[in-house]
Amino acid sequence: MFKKAQISAQTHLYRSGEPFKTGAVILDLSKVNFQDSPRIPYFEIETNDKETNLIYKMQKDDVVYGLGETLGALNKRGKIYQFYATDDPLHTPDKKALYGSHPFMILDGEKSFGLFIDYPSEIIFDIGFTHKDYIKITIFSKDLDIYLFECDEKLTIIKEYFALTGKPYIPPKWAFGFQQSRWSYFSEEEVRYVANKYRELDIPLDVIYTDIDYMDGYKVFTINRETFPNYEGMVKDLAQKGIKVIPIIDPGVKIEEGYHVYEEGKMNKYFCVDKNREDFVAAVWPGLTHFPDFLNSDVRKWWGRQYKIFTDMGIKGVWNDMNEPSIFYTPTRVQKLFESLEKAKVEENELGQKLSLIQEAIKNIPNNREDYKSFYHKLDDGTLINHDLVHNLYGLKMTEAASEALKTLLPNERPLLLSRSSYPGLHRMASIWMGDNMSWWEHMLVNIRLLQSLNMMGFFYTGADIGGFGGDASPELVIRWMQLGVFNPFYRNHAALNTRPQEPWQFDEESLNIMRDTVRLRYALLPYTYSEYMNSVKESEPFIKPLSFVFDGKKEKDIEDQFMYGNSLMVAPVHEQNKKGRYVYLPDVKWLNWTATKFEERNMTVYKPGDYYIEAELSQIPLFIKENNLLVLTEPMNYVGEKEITELWIVGLVTSQAVYTYYDDDGLTYNFAKGEFGHLKIEILKESNDFKVQVEKEDPKNMIKVNKIHFEIYDESGNVVKKDMII
Ligand code: NOJ
Repeated sequence: MFKKAQISAQTHLYRSGEPFKTGAVILDLSKVNFQDSPRIPYFEIETNDKETNLIYKMQKDDVVYGLGETLGALNKRGKIYQFYATDDPLHTPDKKALYGSHPFMILDGEKSFGLFIDYPSEIIFDIGFTHKDYIKITIFSKDLDIYLFECDEKLTIIKEYFALTGKPYIPPKWAFGFQQSRWSYFSEEEVRYVANKYRELDIPLDVIYTDIDYMDGYKVFTINRETFPNYEGMVKDLAQKGIKVIPIIDPGVKIEEGYHVYEEGKMNKYFCVDKNREDFVAAVWPGLTHFPDFLNSDVRKWWGRQYKIFTDMGIKGVWNDMNEPSIFYTPTRVQKLFESLEKAKVEENELGQKLSLIQEAIKNIPNNREDYKSFYHKLDDGTLINHDLVHNLYGLKMTEAASEALKTLLPNERPLLLSRSSYPGLHRMASIWMGDNMSWWEHMLVNIRLLQSLNMMGFFYTGADIGGFGGDASPELVIRWMQLGVFNPFYRNHAALNTRPQEPWQFDEESLNIMRDTVRLRYALLPYTYSEYMNSVKESEPFIKPLSFVFDGKKEKDIEDQFMYGNSLMVAPVHEQNKKGRYVYLPDVKWLNWTATKFEERNMTVYKPGDYYIEAELSQIPLFIKENNLLVLTEPMNYVGEKEITELWIVGLVTSQAVYTYYDDDGLTYNFAKGEFGHLKIEILKESNDFKVQVEKEDPKNMIKVNKIHFEIYDESGNVVKKDMII
């Protein structure tokens, strides 16, 4: 039986039993009035002791969006998705679960609505897989909150979701710069080399990550002084060059006497416990570890204080990894393996059968559900809860620990905070990247789809490992992915240990030159990217949107590999091997095509709506500026903030009128919330053979340093009028 409460005009909460307080929702629900409700609109409900099932009959043309970090198409129909945070390093199409659990979906059809299930353990969404016309959602519990958003408009559903769970995280402006990482920068010398190489080769760069290799024996919050003798000196020296260093942190604390994090955690009972109330043991990078009990607020505070070793060095962000939490093995699992080996040995099996027994036993070792069921959290009120029941919250709570601590350690500074695992609510304080993809062309398409889905979940600042994490990348793949990356708000080239190096200089001269131009293009787009990002957060509207969120046509719903980056720019990346161009669909309006290579070269063509094959050589990216909308560019620089932005280039196709509100602020603090930001309101009116241009500045705190604007305005025949304006 459900109880119903009205949350807003369009959002209703249906509660069953006594749900766990996940922290996803920011509203105070203690005062809402509940009434009994035998049913939930749209859905049939089937329950038994163990589970709740919601069943919905779809119409033929219904499209299902959302469901966060899951593989498959953007329209989620035709697949089963599982929400149970998983460290799966091989993202093949059959996989049901990844690192983040976001049980929020949007049904777009004759009837439209949104649904968010606030429940922190396993949920299965069967979206027309078992039966093509039915959605069946299975929640393995009777204690849950279901939020139903009854609005026709997809964007309104998302606004309601953000009103409930909070607005997206805003990183510092430099986080929109280019970032380099590799698991296997083994020494300080190597990190310094990479930084210098970027500067020497004139490739812009804002951030370098240090992966687990900087730690002493993979012990979190330690530094290997043999290989990184002067980590803090490195942080300072790189800062001089405008490069920020971000370290990785994992949750597993190595069991080692004398190691301060272990000793403190043990003494204060800060670790998760097993059924005998002993600290739970599981192996990750350092070997056997204990897991901090992030569901407890004292533990979060303690953990948060550890980040001080980094902030004291001048570090402005952290990368929280492995927080599903990933388990390589537990002593129990290894014991079971030995048992299976014995069984395989003694039984009168054929050799092949023995081998499959062993293979099966090995397959079950990492991330075993039985292990997740075998440990407990101690909540603030002293009650113990089995981890399995709250599994999906572990990454959220670890990141909350970091986020809360960084508020004190870096007062009024926006950190760059990343997490691998996530749950609704994490998008308020940090962001996620897409985890361990492969250097496969297919994973570029996964990247494109996830960009759009994750934006719907509030992860505006997201992106994939550019060039692919696992496997070896060809120069062509890295180039095309670097081009797609220009339109990943989180733009980081990252690769795994033992893979082919994929920094821009690792290939040939031509590839290097293309990659340099590509990264410079990203920096040329910085004023547009930042302004659109901040406006998107303010409007509670995804920064990256599918075409179907902007245009009504039928065809738009089928197009998943073109997307809107802000409100003016449609991106159509080349994401297939050996392609010298691609098919592009241009919806509804006219478009100004920029097949971009260098910022300085802007040859534009006007297109009417329709289907086209657009040529794009290896160095070229097909971009389209929407009619009567504007793109704002600047001269690229070596890192964000190297120079004040004093000149802007405004490019567009204006057939009647274009209005653009350009936003800027200090890029570093939260003072924008107190009104410390500026606007340039740019208006362009088409007049017979000319354009009338007007710029109004509202900038009480002097946040905008622009003093010159170059206009490049096209008419529908493709004629350009160029004008400069001093402001
Ligand atoms: C897993 C992460 O997903 C990856 O990005 C990282 O390089 C490795 N852990 C090693 O820390």
